[in-house]
Amino acid sequence: MSSYQVEGAFGRSPSIWDELSQRKGAIKDGSDASLADDFYHRYKEDIRLSKELGIQDFRLSFSPTRFFDENGNETVEGIHFYQEVIQEILRNGLRPVVTLYHWDLPCYLEKKGGFTSPEIVSFFTRYAEIVAEHFSSLVSSFITFNEPQCFLGIGYQRRDHAPSTYHTFEEMKRATHHVLLAHAHMYQVLKRANPHCEVSFVNTMNVPLPIKDNPLLLEKCRQKLFSIPKDETDFYSISIYLDPLVKGYYPEGFLPDNLKEGDLEFIQKSRPDYLGLNIYTGTYFTLDEKNQLVESSHVEKEEESDLFWLKRRPGSLYYGPKFFYERYRLPLVITENGGCYRDNLEEGQIHDAKRVLYLTSYLDSLKKAIEDHIDIRGYYYWSLLDNFEWAEGLSKRFGLLYVDYKDNLKRYRKDSFYAYQNIIKHWN
Ligand code: BG6
Repeated sequence: MSSYQVEGAFGRSPSIWDELSQRKGAIKDGSDASLADDFYHRYKEDIRLSKELGIQDFRLSFSPTRFFDENGNETVEGIHFYQEVIQEILRNGLRPVVTLYHWDLPCYLEKKGGFTSPEIVSFFTRYAEIVAEHFSSLVSSFITFNEPQCFLGIGYQRRDHAPSTYHTFEEMKRATHHVLLAHAHMYQVLKRANPHCEVSFVNTMNVPLPIKDNPLLLEKCRQKLFSIPKDETDFYSISIYLDPLVKGYYPEGFLPDNLKEGDLEFIQKSRPDYLGLNIYTGTYFTLDEKNQLVESSHVEKEEESDLFWLKRRPGSLYYGPKFFYERYRLPLVITENGGCYRDNLEEGQIHDAKRVLYLTSYLDSLKKAIEDHIDIRGYYYWSLLDNFEWAEGLSKRFGLLYVDYKDNLKRYRKDSFYAYQNIIKHWN
């Protein structure tokens, strides 16, 4: 889960998402995250339900807005709140996996240029120092950034995410480099505090899927997944982050103008211990008569969900990990995967057969990838709870637990909760 989507606004300073939510029409259903799931007060119940579910890791994010006030002064709110939460996770026998940035940037930083300004690197370094000082004896698994594809690509380009500001191609490239430098500093700080902790970097993608078994088609799908941006509208890219982090150089044709001597060596020293992949869907491709890659627009009725972009395409949990592992040769964790469907609460029950099918079919693909020796170390379903789905608001549901926004935020176990519990019990 991520801080902004579940916690509610108690005790924190404003983030770019608070600002966006105030703009008329920015959140499709007109809701906001001022209360969200009130995880801030209900974390004990939610952690207990996770234990009941049978998972081993509890993934959450810390919000920088609980560590810095609206003027950028350090505060102790985050230290106190998250220490209580982490202690509760540990008491329940779960392992906390902490993401340091899941999109809720303090407003004052955005005013200074956000990720396009070099100041962002010093900010994240200081933030990591505070986290290392207060949490490195409690948390041994960290993720620096969640999905730069979204917070840069959608926040600065498609602009239906915060901060919803436009940037040129050169500025976008600069922002990419700042993300990598900030990751590298955070990685070094966290490892200095505890050399045995694991530090990762999470990417998301729409996996290009070959419609049939054909070596040329497979190769073209792979190339498409790792292609570089053509212009500023095209920042949903993977290789611009992972090539420097893992291989030590930017892909050919992509060079930020703020790259300095020594940067790439420094970035590569902070190669993630594993790659986090958020995989929800894929797009089918075929070859035309000239052997060019063409998208297949056909969508089966049973592939559709409650979000236009999220088709149930289980093959993405086979081909996604396969393509990543073959290119980067690092262990993988599926840090997010989940289905968004309309749920009906009837007499305390939610029969979400579509989500159950989503989950089981994707996990079958994942099993196949593991059998093919792709080094997959973990899988996290997104998400435990229905939550504030960013620009979609509270009405789009991903949870295994239904949250009743009309009745005191009561939690109900969906059929998918029991199905996943059963899968976990029998997974070997
Ligand atoms: C991932 C994010 O991109 O997708 C999550 O890490 C998000 O925070 C999930 O909830 C679902 O996507 P969306 O765009 O529908 O909120």
